[in-house]
Amino acid sequence: MSNAIQEFSRFAHEYDTYNVIQAAVAKSLVKQLDSSYFTTLIDMGCGSGEVYKNLEKQEVSFEHFIALDSSKEMLAIHPSGKKIEKICADFNLPQTFERLTLEEDSLLLSSSALQWSRNLDYTLSEISKKVSSVHFSIFTSNTFKTLHQTAKITSPIYSAEVLKDSIGKYYEATFELREYKLHFETVREMFNYIKKSGVSGGEQQLSYKQTKQLMKQYPLDYLEFEVLFVRGVSLEARSV
Ligand SMILES: C[S@@+](CC[C@H](N)C(=O)[O-])C[C@H]1O[C@@H](n2cnc3c(N)ncnc32)[C@H](O)[C@@H]1O
Repeated sequence: MSNAIQEFSRFAHEYDTYNVIQAAVAKSLVKQLDSSYFTTLIDMGCGSGEVYKNLEKQEVSFEHFIALDSSKEMLAIHPSGKKIEKICADFNLPQTFERLTLEEDSLLLSSSALQWSRNLDYTLSEISKKVSSVHFSIFTSNTFKTLHQTAKITSPIYSAEVLKDSIGKYYEATFELREYKLHFETVREMFNYIKKSGVSGGEQQLSYKQTKQLMKQYPLDYLEFEVLFVRGVSLEARSV
C-alpha cells in the first residue's frame, strides 16, 4: 500500500463538508478489511456513521453492528436498522466496558475517534479484554504540525511513538502511518475549518488576538494531518 501523501482541496462551494479527511480515513479503514463478512462489528466513536456507510458501499456484511458514541446527537443521525444497536457511552468510563458483552469473533473498528481517549492505556486495556481483533485509525500529534510550531503550542493529542508504545502493550499490532494535506483558498477558510471540523488543533489555547496573529504567520496554504492505521490482535487472555 502506498504511503504517498494524499492531497485534498477544499473550495468555498464545499462549505458543508467539514469532515473531508475523516471521510477519507474511514473509507481507507474499511477498504483494508480482509473479509467481507463479520458476525459482530463494534464501531467506537461511530459519529454519524462514516464507517457504517463505507461498509454498505463496499458490500461488507455482518449479523450485528454496534454503533457506540458518547454523543446522543451523533447517534441520532447514525443510520438505523434491524442489525444496528446504538449505545450511548463514553470509552473513558468503566461502566461502558462493564455493560458491553461481545461475541468471541467480534471485530472492533474505530475511525478518527480514539485520539480523544483521556487515558489511552486504560481505553486500550479495557478494549483488549472485550475483543481480540481490532482495526482502527487514530489521529497523531503531527496533525496541524506546522500550525502548532508557528503558534508555539503543543498538540493536545498523542504522538505516533506514544500510540505505538501504548498499543504494543495490549496488542500484537501492525501499523501504517499516513499523511494527508487539505488545501484551502484562503487562510480564513482554513481557520474556519479547524473550528468546525471537530479535529481540534489545540487552537482553543489561543486568545482571539493570538489567533489573528497566527493567521498572518501561518506559512502554508494547506493543513497537515497524520493518521496511524492499526490492526491488532489482543495479547490478553480473553475474559469474556
Ligand atoms: C471525529 S469524529 C469521527 C466519527 C466517525 N468515526 C467518522 O469516522 O467520521 C469522533 C467521534 O468520537 C466521539 N467521541 C469522542 N470522545 C468519545 C468518548 N470518550 N467516548 C465515545 N465516543 C467519543 C465523538 O462524539 C465523535 O462522534
